[in-house]
Order: sequence, then structure tokens, then C-alpha cells
Amino acid sequence: MTKYQVKAKVIGQRVLNATTKEIDLWAPEIARTAVPGQFVNVRVSTHTAPLLRRPLGVARVNRTDGTLTLMYRVLGEATQLLANCCSGDVLDVLGPLGSGVFSLETKHALLVGGGLGLAPLLYLATELKACGAQVDVLMGGRNQDDLFWEDIFKDEGVDCIGCTTDDGSYGTKGTVMALLPQMLGGGCDRVYVCGPVPMMKAVSELVAATTKLPCQVSLERYMGCGLGACLTCSCQGTHRRLKVCTDGPVFDAEEVEEW
Ligand code: FES
Repeated sequence: MTKYQVKAKVIGQRVLNATTKEIDLWAPEIARTAVPGQFVNVRVSTHTAPLLRRPLGVARVNRTDGTLTLMYRVLGEATQLLANCCSGDVLDVLGPLGSGVFSLETKHALLVGGGLGLAPLLYLATELKACGAQVDVLMGGRNQDDLFWEDIFKDEGVDCIGCTTDDGSYGTKGTVMALLPQMLGGGCDRVYVCGPVPMMKAVSELVAATTKLPCQVSLERYMGCGLGACLTCSCQGTHRRLKVCTDGPVFDAEEVEEW
């Protein structure tokens, strides 16, 4: 797949919750070619790491106006610099990256996500709805503030949303596992999972042990180059070493041995 290194103009930013923002970039080459599951590497130079790049999953694209939306948590110096960007600023962006992507072969999908894992699932939901699929979403968070995603997915026209919170402040109390059996019983034919590793592992194990539906997971690893050269992102698969940046980030769950 062709990759582009572009000077992407910042169109705007929005606050999603206390620690999460989304940024719109004008990057027509990437917006025209990115598919659900792919990511971009954004260069965010700090004093100590002038060449630092951050991998961020693609959350939305608008192929008509050439924009893409990325979502990120403001956690350290690099993401604070990103958060300080204003409209008109220019960022060095490399992408779209990753060859393991979400399958669109489903008539009824169940998307299970937590935290920023819901960002790539958002792009997937949009594309699946455009293909005419039924899309159910199960999302988990620590508390109600984490579940600002519910309105975002509703705006995409998804069919059914289940919410869980660890503290019970919204939806069903517990992790996504508390609602998973019920939502798996809703007639879905494929499951997609993206979020914290314990969640992806638990969901994929339950799916394998019960419905045996095809299940894809999107792995997150520290990435040095994002291009398959440095091996910092490698992990053990069932039959071979996997490079998350180039073989993934999306894998069939049974391909993953080392979570
Ligand atoms: Fe360098 Fe994957 S990040 S090989």
C-alpha cells in the first residue's frame, strides 16, 4: 500500500473529555487511501526527542474534502505539544500505515472497545454502515466521563450500543465482559476488539470458547519506526514473529500468542 509523508495542515481541534482531544488534519492523499484499522505517524518534536513520531489510529476520514480525524489522550510532553497546535499549523504526517486491517465482510458486526481503542472502531463503524451492515457497539470505561463515545457512535447511526463502567456510574457496572454474552447473542457474525490488552484477550477468548465467530483485534505496541525496520513493535504470533506496525496492527485473534 502506498504511504505518503505529507505536511498536513491543522484544521481544528476539539476537546472530547478532560484528557482526550480530536484533531482534524487536511491530508488528502492519506484521507483518500486510508482504510479502517490503519494508522498514521505524526511527528511531534520535543527538546529531548526531536524526531519523535506518535502512532495514532485513523478515527474518521472525509475523502471529499481531504481531511482525517485523529483522537489522542494528552499524557506527556509530545501530546501536550499536539494539544497546543492551532488551526493553520502544519504537522509532518506519515501514512496510511499498517497492512493488517479490519475486514468489511460482515452483515452484522459487534464492535467491542475501550479507551482510545474506540477511535479506529469509529472509522470501522462508519464504513460498515456505508456498506449496509448492522453495527452493534459494546464500550467500556472507568466511569461515565470515559463514555463520551456513546454520542459519537450514535451520530454514525449504529444500531445498538451497550455501555459498561467500572464504577457503575453509567450503564452496566463492570467491564465489557458483563454485557458481552448478551450482545454476542444478538445475531452478530463477526467481532472486532480494540482497547486495553486484558480486554482484548478476555473478549477473544470468550468468543473462541462460545460462538467461535471470526474475531479481529487491533494490537498496540510502542513503535519506533512504524515501517518494519526497528523491530520494537514485534510480538510472538502462533506461527511466526509479528511486526505490529507492518503485519498489523489488526490481526485475527487466533494469530496472536503474546499479548
Ligand atoms: Fe519499527 Fe515496527 S515500529 S518495526
